[in-house]
Amino acid sequence: AMAADAWSGFLAEAQSHIPTTFSPRLILLAFVNVPVIAVLVNVLWQLVVPRDKSLPPLVFHWLPFIGSAPSYGNDPLTFFFKCREKYGDVFTYVMFGRKVTVALGPKGNNFVLGGKSKAFSAEDAYTHFTTPVFGKDVVYDVPNEVFMEQKRFVKVGLSTENFRVYVDEIEREVDDFMNRDGAFRIYQMNDINEWASFDVLKVMSEITILTASRTLQGREVRESLDKSFSELYMDLDGGFTPLNFLFPNLPLESYRKRDAAHIKMSEFYQSILKKRKAGSVSHDHDMMAALMDQQYRNGRPLADHEIAHIMIALLMAGQHTSSSTGSWALLHLADNPAIAEAVYEEQVKHFGLSEGQFRPMTYEELRALPILDSVIRETLRVHPPIHSIMRYVREPVVIPPTLSAPSKDSTFVVPKGHYVLACPLVSQMDPKIWRDCETWEPARWSDPEGAAAKAYTEYEDATGEQIDFGFGLVSKGTESPYQPFGAGRHRCIGEQFAYLQLGTIIATLIRKLELRLDADELPKHNFHTMIMLPKDPRTISYRRRHFD
Ligand code: HEM
Repeated sequence: AMAADAWSGFLAEAQSHIPTTFSPRLILLAFVNVPVIAVLVNVLWQLVVPRDKSLPPLVFHWLPFIGSAPSYGNDPLTFFFKCREKYGDVFTYVMFGRKVTVALGPKGNNFVLGGKSKAFSAEDAYTHFTTPVFGKDVVYDVPNEVFMEQKRFVKVGLSTENFRVYVDEIEREVDDFMNRDGAFRIYQMNDINEWASFDVLKVMSEITILTASRTLQGREVRESLDKSFSELYMDLDGGFTPLNFLFPNLPLESYRKRDAAHIKMSEFYQSILKKRKAGSVSHDHDMMAALMDQQYRNGRPLADHEIAHIMIALLMAGQHTSSSTGSWALLHLADNPAIAEAVYEEQVKHFGLSEGQFRPMTYEELRALPILDSVIRETLRVHPPIHSIMRYVREPVVIPPTLSAPSKDSTFVVPKGHYVLACPLVSQMDPKIWRDCETWEPARWSDPEGAAAKAYTEYEDATGEQIDFGFGLVSKGTESPYQPFGAGRHRCIGEQFAYLQLGTIIATLIRKLELRLDADELPKHNFHTMIMLPKDPRTISYRRRHFD
């Protein structure tokens, strides 16, 4: 509706510049010229009409309505760095009729992510996009207090006790995959001389969904993956793109498939719940079991459809984020054999038995491996899967003068109806903050004096200030330049699971394989997907390390 309003507003504006008495020839001329006039009006309006002093600077754009969408959409990082140079840390850009106010840097992150939910609403920014996929009555389809309770329920399922069981399950799943999938044919032939290659995103996507279903999603989902579930997942995923974000409902096949897949997926999870309730099999360690035991503060247990929809939300939240991070980590390891060897030696040191033989890791041991840990942490600095975090502005908010101000004694205000956007990627790649910011360098995380140590302490410090938004204590951490999992009340609750999953997958692969990058350089980011995936081609060569 907002987009339509903006569109008709701009048409009205353009038409008001056309004379009212027309000859047919003039009408034709005017018709042809409307787009030209619209562009002119839009440009003149930006250059000539004085801007309300309380509004942050507007990014100049030629096209009305569409605004800066192409620059943002093709490469938000370059777009934001350019805008920062011209306008400072706070500016507004137009994207398909929406006005988006960006706040950059650690203070900008804090402004957006630490904002009050009454003023900055995640549900108003996301629900049109997420609810058709996740379903009713969960996440952004409910008031924020209710969602915070749902995050608390999910955290019960993400317990350390469950994680202890998962390490082994993930390792076995990766093992089975390598012994079965066509990508690892040369490995399967027990050949330690020949190199072969695989598409890293394809392999990581499959391993991610296999391991997430074996653990969090539960046995029934894992078993169905070999059948109908994968197709449903693909259809649902096809409805989770930037196009869906911009236009929630278009008469397109992908939208119809999304809606049909949601109904089937929801029924599928609900049928599992019914069977579980009827049967006597125990499922102690998965998420559905945890959710079935929870109740809202008013004593009401979760309805089956709510559990089903939370499960879909978790599936979507964890899939591309983890598979993207894992892909980038493997690409960098392939590009830096010395670091891959250090990861390997770390495995040998802690778990090596004899040549090529390792004992399993425990969860506690896994989390105490500094090299493996820093590989993931550094990958999330350079390639945080989620680059833009948005909120809808429900009431005007004053921008702190320390972040941005037009002059010494005045302030900017973000008006109601704007969106605000935080981009932790900018502060994570800021040359003013990080030494050699472009270089993927896990060792920076073990330098106690470096920017990384400071950023990490600010982000994670359990001894610093902590807040409970309803799902347990989280570190305040909103002013850190390093925030791959967001911050504040919407902070990710999947972080520990992601580290566990990625750590186990990477360790298992590196125990068995040497890796090399196929191309001369790393692939670029594909910004046309919701998540910062590596562009095609993204193949990695591998060679088996040991005989069986
Ligand atoms: C929220 C990143 C994995 C579940 C978030 C946010 C970020 C993020 C940036 C904040 C979004 C916002 O403020 O709008 C990541 C990364 C991951 C990852 C980088 C992996 C490398 C997972 C996994 C799960 C998960 C595995 C589930 C098991 C969630 C949930 C939220 C969230 C429930 C809360 C959303 C909210 O409160 O609005 N994640 N995530 N994430 N994530 Fe993750």
